[in-house]
Amino acid sequence: MQQKMDALKAEILAQMAETKTGRSLYELKLKFQAELKVVMAGMKDLPKEEKPAFGKIVNAFKTEMEEAFEARAVVVKEMEMQQKYASERVDISMPGKVRTTGALHPITLVKNQLIDVFAGMGFKVFEGPEVETDYYNFTALNTPKDHPARDMQDTFYLAENLLLRTQTSAGQIRVMEKQSPPIKILSPGRVFRSDDDATHSPMFHQMEGLVVDKGITLCDLQGMLAEFAKKMFTDSTKVRLRPSYFPFTEPSVEVDLSCSQCGGAGCRLCKGTGWIEVLGAGMVNRHVLENCGVDPDEYTGFAFGMGIERIAMLKYGINNIKTLFENDTRFLKQFED
Ligand code: PHE
Repeated sequence: MQQKMDALKAEILAQMAETKTGRSLYELKLKFQAELKVVMAGMKDLPKEEKPAFGKIVNAFKTEMEEAFEARAVVVKEMEMQQKYASERVDISMPGKVRTTGALHPITLVKNQLIDVFAGMGFKVFEGPEVETDYYNFTALNTPKDHPARDMQDTFYLAENLLLRTQTSAGQIRVMEKQSPPIKILSPGRVFRSDDDATHSPMFHQMEGLVVDKGITLCDLQGMLAEFAKKMFTDSTKVRLRPSYFPFTEPSVEVDLSCSQCGGAGCRLCKGTGWIEVLGAGMVNRHVLENCGVDPDEYTGFAFGMGIERIAMLKYGINNIKTLFENDTRFLKQFED
């Protein structure tokens, strides 16, 4: 029996040295226990007096083997851990994934800057609808159906009296109908005209301003524009008013700023004149006030409207309006607040 145990020990220890996983070690242990049972079955054939001594030997053998299994279990567990570490290894020297961050579109940037400038002067933002009725876009703005000024703005009609607004001035009427003076609003938004070349796009953005109160004069408009020019461009930017015509303002003016590129000396951008036209403005025509139920003998007001693309093009030196709508990220990436 001793021989059998020795043989079993040699066989199990040899196989144990080969085990690499907890599972194979466990299976080996089951096999050992089964074979030990077979060996121990031989005990019944031993003479009675030899049994206790042999019992001790068997117990010692069992303990020895159990210790061997436990020791191997520690080794195998370590091996398994190492293998797990190796398979889950992260190469911390590998460059990380760079996420590209988005940025505001130059139109949005300029729109926000304009709102900031005018909000600082007490203007509140009002946004009117893009689909307008003929009445709000033209008739109420002193531009009846047969008025030649309608030709100034090639209009996209959706139906007989429904159109895509050609100017944010339509918002003036909506505000004055609802609100009584004093009024000081800013109305940014998309406008549409059937017009398409390097400096015109069939869809573009305007920023409208309207101030109505007692005793408002052209001087107030001029002072406010001077402030706007300084804040939006530079401290030395000058403002020039030229007589013009809009059906909804009287008198009407075109507003020029001293050229941001040459400072007024004359260059290609300002075509040698030193001035760049940026917006239309004027004192609100009394017919327009009347159309909205505002008494023109009590109240006066001024309005102005500028193209946001035009301001962006001047500010950032962009010479083709199309680049603002192509959404080429190489172009858009260049603008920061
Ligand atoms: N609505 C005019 C345009 O689109 C601009 C303007 C606004 C002129 C307000 C005067 C007063 O050309």
